[in-house]
Amino acid sequence: MIIAIDGPAASGKGTISKRLAKHFDLPHMDTGLLYRAVGFAMRDDLDHPNWEEKAVTTAQTLELSHYHEDDLTTAEAGIAASKVARVPEVRAALQTAQKHFAHQKGGAILDGRDIGTRICPDADVKLYITADAHARAQRRTKQLNDRGVDVTFDEILAQIEKRDADDRDNPAGAFYVAPDAHLLDTTKLSIETAFQAALELVNSVLAQK
Ligand code: DC
Repeated sequence: MIIAIDGPAASGKGTISKRLAKHFDLPHMDTGLLYRAVGFAMRDDLDHPNWEEKAVTTAQTLELSHYHEDDLTTAEAGIAASKVARVPEVRAALQTAQKHFAHQKGGAILDGRDIGTRICPDADVKLYITADAHARAQRRTKQLNDRGVDVTFDEILAQIEKRDADDRDNPAGAFYVAPDAHLLDTTKLSIETAFQAALELVNSVLAQK
């Protein structure tokens, strides 16, 4: 069984995916981390004239275990990830690992931006998790403040809106909602309610199979 979960930054897709993975006892891949690792590795090189070539080599030889998750979850790594994700050969290099993970025996859950459309168009269940930019900025600000990171809501909102815009016009293929994806808007939902709603959607799709 393959469950594909897509959605914009800070929509709740990561938490929902992890909880679904636990519930169904399936391995989970946060595909954003792959792009974040390449972005993080390239953080000092993104202004060089031939940075794209280096980004491709970094993606082709990526060992995710060499990175600390703390370094990859920063806003800076997110911005760098969004930039390297615009290079078609970087996407191609990272797609192989994602497809391989998805098609392992027993199934998997993957979350990202193009799982239901390009990585696993054949997924058994596709969810698209969204929330308005204000709600996402509020959550991300709280998350970072709780971790002791000194950021304001306005800074985070501006970052989220910029990343949405960059992702929307990604020249390597704009992200879109798979026509057979089930939409879940978490703007007004607590994480617990959002998870329960996602679980109900998954179960109702599986019940029809
Ligand atoms: O979901 P996230 O914030 O961790 O993703 C970071 C960036 O990586 C995002 O701005 C776009 C890119 N990304 C992508 O292009 N394709 C994916 N499947 C996942 C993430």
